[in-house]
Amino acid sequence: MTRFVLCFPQQQLTFPLMLTVGTAVIGSLQFGYNTGVINAPQKIIEAFYNQTWTDRHNENIPKTTMTTLWSLSVAIFSVGGIIGSFSVGLFVNRFGRRNSMLMANMGASWEMLISGRFVVGLYSGLSTGFVPMYVGEVAPTALRGALGTLHQLGIVIGILMAQIFGMDAIMGNATMWPFLLGFTFIPALLQCCLLPFCPESPRFLLIIRNEEDKAKAVLKKLRGMTDVSADMQEMKEESRQMMREKKVTIPELFRSPLYRQPIAIAIMLQLSQQLSGINAVFYYSTKIFEKAGVQQPVYATIGAGVVNTAFTVVSLFVVERAGRRSLHLLGLLGMAGSAVLMTIALALLEKYDWMSYMSIVAIFAFVAFFEIGPGPIPWFIVAELFSQGPRPSAFAVAGFSNWTANFIVGMCFQYVEELCGAYVFIIFTVFLLCFFVFTYFKVPETKGRTFDEISAGFRQAASGAEKHSPEELNYLGADSQL
Ligand code: GLC
Repeated sequence: MTRFVLCFPQQQLTFPLMLTVGTAVIGSLQFGYNTGVINAPQKIIEAFYNQTWTDRHNENIPKTTMTTLWSLSVAIFSVGGIIGSFSVGLFVNRFGRRNSMLMANMGASWEMLISGRFVVGLYSGLSTGFVPMYVGEVAPTALRGALGTLHQLGIVIGILMAQIFGMDAIMGNATMWPFLLGFTFIPALLQCCLLPFCPESPRFLLIIRNEEDKAKAVLKKLRGMTDVSADMQEMKEESRQMMREKKVTIPELFRSPLYRQPIAIAIMLQLSQQLSGINAVFYYSTKIFEKAGVQQPVYATIGAGVVNTAFTVVSLFVVERAGRRSLHLLGLLGMAGSAVLMTIALALLEKYDWMSYMSIVAIFAFVAFFEIGPGPIPWFIVAELFSQGPRPSAFAVAGFSNWTANFIVGMCFQYVEELCGAYVFIIFTVFLLCFFVFTYFKVPETKGRTFDEISAGFRQAASGAEKHSPEELNYLGADSQL
């Protein structure tokens, strides 16, 4: 904690701010836990499926049926995520950011034991909208990247916890695995107890609710000082901007030249995160390591979780200095290199035994580069790319894109792997290189700029690029220079 403060000396990293962000990211932890939880016990749960099948049909389950059943068990989580993330806009402006998080939890705790991964996916989908939006709105500008990365840190700690609990000796065994899946109830409870102590987002209070005094009081508490005029000024600017904008619906995001570029960037960054193939690792690494001849695949999986967590911490410290764009580029390129290494390792496994070690190195590097940029950045950059007016719709679209791609990878990976064998990671390499080119040419740097400055940049770009219809001029407001 002290080190963290030392790294950002002039910033107001107060206790209320840390409590607020820390409580919000328990939602991220849940998302991570449920991402990682089905990796280690795959074999045990498959044995249970087989048992059920044999009881009913008096024969072993056919291999393709098992692949389908297991892929579905993995990927149904993302179907929940798709619906949840798409519904973010229904909640945030009506109930507020904090209360929305509270409501999502109430749904998640008991039912998830009954309806399982689908409901947990719903909750996680909502969290992937609520948490980055809330954190982005309570953070001071200069700490927005670092605090935004805490969402990803919550996710990776969740994954790591799931991997450790998934060890045979803890809960990854034939009797305990239902508890492994049900554990997620505990962080839900914890978050419900802590959220009432967290303030509502000051931007929501001022801009949506028009409650200036309350917004000011919250800011004073979060910033730990009485003079919050600079922050208030910035929020009012955003508010004025929003009054000039009509409420921006999802179709309008695509129709208006003002938002076309930022929404394309938001979608592409989400796709770059998921189609990088990261969840092929986090859903299936134990099986991948096993096929690569690794002796203790569960330990290698935990190793990947440790590397994942360590590099998210690295990203936390460098993101405000190196900037989002360069880190994202570096991450994508590094992942592409690691995917090639992985392919070589798998292809030469028959010839050289030591290639199984190489596969471990390759996966660890793949994960490390992911967390340098493509892991954390897409989540918080959506709040940065859009002002209040289009923000909820933009979060819905970004979340939907992310979870749909997550579903595709989770559902298809095992089939594609059966088809392509050692060369399956080449597909991800191609995607990674395409996303690198896109980021290089299209993604602007957002580091250190206020929300308003960022959207002003896009407004200028749009006004330079096209002539607007009268309706679109309306979005721009009276004083935008066209
Ligand atoms: C990101 C992704 C998530 C993935 C995780 C791995 O948060 O959204 O799907 O499992 O990173 O660390």
